[in-house]
Amino acid sequence: MHVLVVGGAGYIGSHMVKLLGQRGFQVTVLDNLCAGHRDAVQGARFVLGDLGERDLLNALFQAEHFDGVMHFASHIQVGESVREPAKYYLNNVFKTQYLLDAMVAHRVKCFIFSSTAAIFGEPLRVPIDEDHPKQPINPYGRGKWMVEQMLQDYDLAYGLKAVCLRYFNAAGADPEGKLGERHDPETHLIPLVLRAATSQRPITVFGTDYDTPDGTCIRDYIHVNDLGEAHLLALQRLWDGVGSAAYNLGNGNGFSVREVIDTARKVTGCEIPVVYGERRPGDPARLVADAHRARADLGWTPRYADLATIIAHAWQWETRAKS
Ligand SMILES: NC(=O)c1ccc[n+]([C@@H]2O[C@H](COP(=O)([O-])OP(=O)(O)OC[C@H]3O[C@@H](n4cnc5c(N)ncnc54)[C@H](O)[C@@H]3O)[C@@H](O)[C@H]2O)c1
Repeated sequence: MHVLVVGGAGYIGSHMVKLLGQRGFQVTVLDNLCAGHRDAVQGARFVLGDLGERDLLNALFQAEHFDGVMHFASHIQVGESVREPAKYYLNNVFKTQYLLDAMVAHRVKCFIFSSTAAIFGEPLRVPIDEDHPKQPINPYGRGKWMVEQMLQDYDLAYGLKAVCLRYFNAAGADPEGKLGERHDPETHLIPLVLRAATSQRPITVFGTDYDTPDGTCIRDYIHVNDLGEAHLLALQRLWDGVGSAAYNLGNGNGFSVREVIDTARKVTGCEIPVVYGERRPGDPARLVADAHRARADLGWTPRYADLATIIAHAWQWETRAKS
């Protein structure tokens, strides 16, 4: 089976590519490297290009038969999406439509979409299940929800089958230490905490007066390889003809910012300097997934659910020998 991975040079996509290769799939990666890394693509054919190049997409689908497409390519910074919505709607929504159109034109029917917890907005109840109202509060989340709705319409009209996977906080790294998180700028908590451990420059904790046991925000961290396994199961589900679906993917277990820092201190053996700042606007107290549906329908069981393991894999990557 041949899978096209769009955005396969990025953090989650590169782990996916490695997993697909290990399971014997033929893999082609399309990435424009606006945020990805060529050397992160291991064991796959690499095509340098942008989703917005319709001729390139058509040539790619003309030349190869793909049994499925996984779409990781998007801009990912919530704050930037508020300042530059045009950039986000163009890349994350319009260019995604080009990809879907190429799939329809070339009769490729199976699509896995990287969606996000941001489609839900401020949670009305926690844990958040799939039926929770979708009220995104920023252009990043709104764009992802637009694509989810577009996919419902493309299924009805063109028979394009899609599974939308709504990740909560992707975290961790390749257990073999070959891949990891390399965002620039980095906005995710675990790599920032680990960089505070190595640099001894303090990490800022935003808000200590939330309605949580220790006053800091609670988030649901899901290992990047567990996300990869969910993608494989979702693709198989489409190949089995079960039809389109959407799943929330998380551990179902929230950890506070303080818990993450304390666990990182234990894993690394380093002091981690901390300063305390004000709450940031738009940061809910708790974001935790109800992932029962993914477990029941896909038979998905996160293997690296333990926070210390997630941090240990990320630490192995952060402290790798860099040439
Ligand atoms: N990291 C998380 O915690 C998280 C949480 C929820 C959802 N997601 C979603 O998962 C996906 C992957 O996230 P990530 O953290 O791996 O991001 P990333 O920035 O590391 O990877 C995105 C990749 O897509 C490529 N790309 C972007 N626009 C492109 C375009 N127009 N044409 C071709 N390539 C393009 C980039 O070069 C990069 O390699 C994204 O869609 C993101 O919205 C991530």
